[in-house]
Amino acid sequence: MKADGLAAGKGVIVCQHRADAIEAIDRIGVDREFGDAGRDIVIEERLDGQEASVLAITDGQTIVTLPPAQDHKPAKDVDKGPNTGGMGAYSPAPLVDAEMLSWIEENVLVPTVHAMKRSRHPFRGVLYAGLMATNQGPKVLEYNVRFGDPECQPILMRLQSDLVDLLEATVDGRLDEIEPLQWDPRPAVCVVMASEGYPGPYEKGKVITGLDEAAALDDVKVFHAGTAIRDGKVVSAGGRVLGVTALGKSIATAKLQAYRGVKCIRWPGAWCRKDISDKAIQV
Ligand code: GLY
Repeated sequence: MKADGLAAGKGVIVCQHRADAIEAIDRIGVDREFGDAGRDIVIEERLDGQEASVLAITDGQTIVTLPPAQDHKPAKDVDKGPNTGGMGAYSPAPLVDAEMLSWIEENVLVPTVHAMKRSRHPFRGVLYAGLMATNQGPKVLEYNVRFGDPECQPILMRLQSDLVDLLEATVDGRLDEIEPLQWDPRPAVCVVMASEGYPGPYEKGKVITGLDEAAALDDVKVFHAGTAIRDGKVVSAGGRVLGVTALGKSIATAKLQAYRGVKCIRWPGAWCRKDISDKAIQV
C-alpha cells in the first residue's frame, strides 16, 4: 500500500495478510499518517526478493548505465523496523551481475528512454530504476529521475571521470561522444548516521564533532545530508544527517573503514545501522 504523494521515502506499507492491507489503508487514507500524500492510495502486487538500484544517465538518445548499488531501507539491522529514505548503500552490488545488468539495460532502461522520446517527452538526466530481484527475474518497483540517496555516495566515490564533463555532455546531447567512464575498481560502502527518533519526529541543532578526524582516515569521505552551520559549528538539521563513505579492497574492508569513520563522529542521539553491506558479503 502506498501513499501516492511525496512522503520522503516512508509512504509504503508492505503487507503480509489481508487484515494488514486494510489496516494500512486506514493508516494512509483515514488517519492520514503521511498527510495529504495519502489522499490517493496505490495498491501494488507485493514482490519478494532483494532490492537493487540501477541508475543510468541519458541525454535522450544514449544511455550510460552506472554500476548497480544496493540501499538499506528499513531503519533497523537485518532489515527490521519502519521504512526510511535509506540507511546505507554499497556499490557495486554483487546481486546484479553483468548478465542481469545488461538484461536490465535492454529490457528496462532502453525501452523507457525510447518510450519517453516517442511520446515527445525526451528525458535528459538521471534515470533511477528501483528494482526487485525476484525468482521471476528483476521487476521495476519505481523510477526516480534523480540520483539516489544514499546510493549516489558510493557510486560517485568510485567515479574517476569528471562528473561535470559527464553532466555537460548530458545537457548538450553529446553522451555518444564521451570516453567510457573510468571507475575505481574498489567497492564503496556508505553508512548513514541519523538523528534520534528518525524516521519519526526528531530534534535538530545538535553539535556534531569528529568530522575532521573521520575525513582524515584513508579512503573515507563524509557526505553531508542534513546539516547546517550555527555559530561556526556544524549541527544536525535533518533526519538523515551524514553519509560516511569509504572505499576498500573488498566490500568487507570498505565496510570496516566506513564504520571507523562513523566511530570518530558524535552528537547526542546519533545512531546508524551496524550491518550495512552484510547482504553483499553473504552473496
Ligand atoms: N535511496 C532511495 C532513494 O533515493 O529514493
